[in-house]
Amino acid sequence: MKVAIVGASGAVGQEFLRILAERNFPMDDLVLFGSKRSAGRKYTFKGKEYEVKLLQHNDDFKDIDIAFTSAGGGTSAEFADTITKYGAVMIDNSSQFRMDADVPLVVPEINPEDALNRPRGIIANPNCTTIMMVVVLNPIEKLSHIKKIHISSYQSASGAGAVAMAELQQQYKEMVELGEVKTIEKFPHQLAYNVIPQIDKMTENDYTKEEMKMFNETRKIMHSDVRTSATCVRVSSLRSHSESVWFETEKPLSVEEIRDALGKAPGVTLVDDPQNYIYPMPLESAGKDDVFVGRVRKDLADDNSNTLWLTGDQIRKGAALNAVQIAEYLIKVGNVK
Ligand SMILES: NC(=O)c1ccc[n+]([C@@H]2O[C@H](COP(=O)([O-])OP(=O)(O)OC[C@H]3O[C@@H](n4cnc5c(N)ncnc54)[C@H](OP(=O)(O)O)[C@@H]3O)[C@@H](O)[C@H]2O)c1
Repeated sequence: MKVAIVGASGAVGQEFLRILAERNFPMDDLVLFGSKRSAGRKYTFKGKEYEVKLLQHNDDFKDIDIAFTSAGGGTSAEFADTITKYGAVMIDNSSQFRMDADVPLVVPEINPEDALNRPRGIIANPNCTTIMMVVVLNPIEKLSHIKKIHISSYQSASGAGAVAMAELQQQYKEMVELGEVKTIEKFPHQLAYNVIPQIDKMTENDYTKEEMKMFNETRKIMHSDVRTSATCVRVSSLRSHSESVWFETEKPLSVEEIRDALGKAPGVTLVDDPQNYIYPMPLESAGKDDVFVGRVRKDLADDNSNTLWLTGDQIRKGAALNAVQIAEYLIKVGNVK
């Protein structure tokens, strides 16, 4: 088994290295790719050094079995044919192919079998905020069909990549040292001491692309007609996204039923003792695999609705971990070239 990571120097790429090592992913060799910026840089994996190769249109993917790509949509679009031409499975973290009918969009806890039908050799890893929400909502969907979702997200700086994390840290440093923020490059506004109610570009209906991803991808992953209305907000946590989620089910569900289902759900940890100040927070979920959920309660405005709070490390379950779990599933069922 020969594995490639495209975008190895990035926030997600670096997490791939950690997760593949931690999980002892069954592989014999590793090849790292990047642009001119990181080509030649060396990273250590399981005690051995690997040098980043320049991603080019050549035969470098001839012997690759699985390619984890996290180098942005443009790079995925440009290099998909080069990556898949000799049969490598491309598990792509960008939004480039997610809604294409011939590309499966997979969360292993929910629809792993979809990964087996991939005419183009590409499997898309869903949007990070969406992955964490559906991992939590899927066990509830099994109790009663979810018709509507309202969600407000609290997304960390790292969702915009390694440079964005550094920019937030730089902004706090400038506030302390200079009394004002000078560096605003990656985000459209100052993020330190602020929240920004826009993630990704605005679309014609005044929802952002991130919000429309939540609408469309939730339906594709869950094979559902659910309608999701989202407001996605950038906050100044560094790592781990949070979400406040209201959901309407076909029949009324009790809080106890929901807590019970969440307590048994794979990939979910219930942390729900609000009377004792116990609920999930991003500082605690950072670096962990599960999505943490709490504040489960009845919606006061609608008898068929309940509401909950969740938080999870979007670079792990929202990106690298989900992709590695897809690859583990393919290996388990013997479905790699
Ligand atoms: N951060 C998250 O929480 C998150 C979650 C889910 C999905 N994603 C998606 O994952 C992808 C990567 O995100 P990130 O946060 O890791 O971004 P990042 O930290 O900015 O890293 C981007 C990576 O892409 C590489 N790259 C860019 N252009 C390239 C090219 N032409 N050829 C080869 N490599 C190229 C960069 O390599 P160089 O350093 O060599 O330029 C770098 O390794 C994006 O599509 C993003 O939407 C991110």
